Amino acid sequence: MKIDVDRKRCQGHGRCYGLAPDVFEPDEEGYVALMVTGELPPTSVPDARLAVDTCPESALRLVADPD
Ligand code: F3S
Repeated sequence: MKIDVDRKRCQGHGRCYGLAPDVFEPDEEGYVALMVTGELPPTSVPDARLAVDTCPESALRLVADPD
């Protein structure tokens, strides 16, 4: 699984990096930045999924690797 970010939607609510600090971090303005750009470690998927489901702007998606 990978994370897809729609930066146009992110409003800096910060729930993602609060819930999944191994996957997301704030940029210098508080908008989401990815710490993991490729395949997520399996141990990070549950927190990442929670963050995706919690973002009030629907800025995040979990996508399956096409392989
Ligand atoms: Fe942005 Fe949503 Fe996170 S608005 S900072 S992606 S909780």
